[in-house]
Amino acid sequence: MSAKDKLRKFRENETFGCLYQPTTEEVLWKDYRLKGHWGGQVFGNDNPIVVELGCGKGEYTIALSKMFENVNFIGVDIKGARLWKGAKYAHAEKLSNVAFIRTRIEFIESLFAENEISQIWITFPDPQIKRAKKRLTGTLFLKRYFNFLKSDGIVNLKTDSRFLHEYTLALVKQNNLPLIEANTDIYGSGRADEILSIKTFYEAHYLKRGFPITYMAFRIDKNELAEPQWDSEYWEKEEMKGREFTPANKG
Ligand SMILES: C[S@@+](CC[C@H](N)C(=O)[O-])C[C@H]1O[C@@H](n2cnc3c(N)ncnc32)[C@H](O)[C@@H]1O
Repeated sequence: MSAKDKLRKFRENETFGCLYQPTTEEVLWKDYRLKGHWGGQVFGNDNPIVVELGCGKGEYTIALSKMFENVNFIGVDIKGARLWKGAKYAHAEKLSNVAFIRTRIEFIESLFAENEISQIWITFPDPQIKRAKKRLTGTLFLKRYFNFLKSDGIVNLKTDSRFLHEYTLALVKQNNLPLIEANTDIYGSGRADEILSIKTFYEAHYLKRGFPITYMAFRIDKNELAEPQWDSEYWEKEEMKGREFTPANKG
């Protein structure tokens, strides 16, 4: 994507009512004005709210919003040119149960209040092999999610990264978090139903390269969490097999 294209998308983003782009000043050590008010002020109802973290172009947010009209969906990502795709679609189709937020997920606690969110989807996040603190399913992030996820809320993780799947599973088990399900090959095992077979941009890319797609669902019932006992070296090597080049389009 050319720089000109990106600028055009950024300009167009300003015109989408469904896209919220808080400034750093609005979220750094501070509650965003819509924290606790997404239902009432944005969607005009008190339907459950589901958040997709690292939503990219927003495939899950959009597809789920059409399947579940009585649920509100919010896609979060930092990349404006990717969000543009989902936001443009939601705007053009007048999808009233969809919003997008352009922000760093590090600020997520400034955006959502206690019990505001019913479910989280984390779709094909960067595995962050070398940086556990940046991993969206690491203890640091799960503690943040605990603060706004309902007590019966669910975290859904879909990834092509066996490293991330096994790491998250180890974390869930070590901390005795309620595990709902874990599947290491949703297509091969026939588990991919209507919801799990929604394909994101990255999923399509990795499927084409023959990587099995994994899925996990769990709850977070405490915020005292320990990093798992974890054989990083072994899993890092496993992860790199066949992955020398991962040229997913950066668009
Ligand atoms: C590998 S892409 C996956 C995108 C999309 N879910 C898909 O499957 O096509 C990871 C996405 O997470 C976003 N992301 C990663 N870390 C983030 C952070 N800390 N805050 C906001 N977005 C983040 C990136 O901008 C990117 O769009």
